[in-house]
Amino acid sequence: MTNETPRPNRSGKPRFQGDHKPRGEQGAKPQFRGGNAKPTTNHRRHREEPEEKFIRRAIPDIDTPFTRMGIDARVAVNLPPMGIEAPSPIQEKSIPGIVAGRDLLGLAQTGTGKTAAFGLPMLTRLLNIGRKPEPKTCRALILAPTRELATQIAENIDAYAAGTAIRQFRVVGGASINVQTMRMERGVDVLIATPGRLIDLIERGAVDLSQTKYLVLDEADQMLDIGFIHALRRIAKMLPRDRQTLLFSATMPKLMEELAESYLSDPLKVAVNPPGQAAAKIDQGVHFVTQGDKATLLAEYLGKHRDELAIVFGRTKHGCEKLSKLLEKWGFKVASIHGNKSQGQRERALSGFRAGETKVLVATDVAARGIDIPEVAHIYNYDLPNVPENYVHRIGRTARAGRDGRAIAFCAPAEIGELRAIEKAMKSQIPVVGGEVPFEASKIRERGGPAGRPGNNNAQGARKRPARRPSRAPKSVQRD
Ligand SMILES: Nc1ncnc2c1ncn2[C@@H]1O[C@H](COP(=O)(O)OP(=O)(O)OP(=O)(O)O)[C@@H](O)[C@H]1O
Ligand SMILES: [Mg+2]
Repeated sequence: MTNETPRPNRSGKPRFQGDHKPRGEQGAKPQFRGGNAKPTTNHRRHREEPEEKFIRRAIPDIDTPFTRMGIDARVAVNLPPMGIEAPSPIQEKSIPGIVAGRDLLGLAQTGTGKTAAFGLPMLTRLLNIGRKPEPKTCRALILAPTRELATQIAENIDAYAAGTAIRQFRVVGGASINVQTMRMERGVDVLIATPGRLIDLIERGAVDLSQTKYLVLDEADQMLDIGFIHALRRIAKMLPRDRQTLLFSATMPKLMEELAESYLSDPLKVAVNPPGQAAAKIDQGVHFVTQGDKATLLAEYLGKHRDELAIVFGRTKHGCEKLSKLLEKWGFKVASIHGNKSQGQRERALSGFRAGETKVLVATDVAARGIDIPEVAHIYNYDLPNVPENYVHRIGRTARAGRDGRAIAFCAPAEIGELRAIEKAMKSQIPVVGGEVPFEASKIRERGGPAGRPGNNNAQGARKRPARRPSRAPKSVQRD
């Protein structure tokens, strides 16, 4: 089974899903995806094929805000049905430069359309050059930190490129490397990868990066961070020097920016807002609570919005699993996603959540970056992240594309340091919405807080609450 993501049925040829034996595409390898869905083949589509192919391959004669910025009409025509009518600020600022061939560092808040900001002009350039990839090569490479984000980017690229001859392929861990090796035999226009699996494929001689003229690092600051930098350095060495490199993120700590420069040549730097800020429409709050009371408090918050989607971020895989079991016991529709789950379980958890079948997703930072589920209305930082920038990414899973959302951080006495680091990174204070401000936090806030602004706190007379035994379900959510 390949993990090539299905695309809208561009050519009119049948797409296959599940374990059914697919028929190949004119001698090419069959395309199908995981899951148990039924094949979508039907004979009527076969008969319509030549006509549809002709219509869809023609260059549409359209004039849109995107074509005026230089986006190929064959790509621009796919945007309105996706709800993308006019460019967002990051798209407006970065697309013309990328179309012109410049390297670019693009910084904009979460949920503001960075994927299209690099995807649309990159596809435009690929279409303009318009040649076929050689075996094992890719013409463009997009690197992302997690499998789920790589999958989502692949789906976006498919949607933007629908009706064109551009083909993408996604290579991530947790899927068969042999299938990925076989698929790469043909070469691909756009390869979307997590760095670890890409290195594995390169070592097997299955991928050749010598023809790759476009490199995108999504979530660039994380890709330059310690967990990925070694893989990235190895990959970068194999790419031609003469390439276009695009780096995008919502956060870019100073140190990372210096590192980023070494991957770029005479780059344009586009920052829509001062980098590191949370998305504008997130209603944030911090609730001070002891560690032992967190689960009960979470259940109280969740119980108020049972029909709305919420993501709960925990720090450890084990902690997330335990919490998700507890919430399930208390009657919530919950799934969890973290590194101890199989790839199948991870995919099912995310797709069930996307579909609204489960309302609560308990996750480690594996779901902190890039994941776009517009219906997510609430974020709970059950544990505060120890990488401060990840707070902005975690809460950025809500309030996407102009919507609003709420984010509550649970801060235990031992997490004051993390809270301080987060507020310092964001250069703003998070309003206190509940609990008693521990003495340590009140001192920081009285001094003007990490952001140097007077805090809105109720610090007077604050004291630590004694720790209570682990959580019981609050009355409102107790079930028999
Ligand atoms: N110009 C646009 N108009 C309306 N919606 C848009 C536009 N561009 C993108 N979107 C939508 O906005 C949502 C967020 O886009 P995207 O995932 O690219 O954000 P992002 O900036 O990469 O966020 P993050 O920092 O969390 O990765 C998507 O659902 C996308 O379809
Ligand atoms: Mg993104």
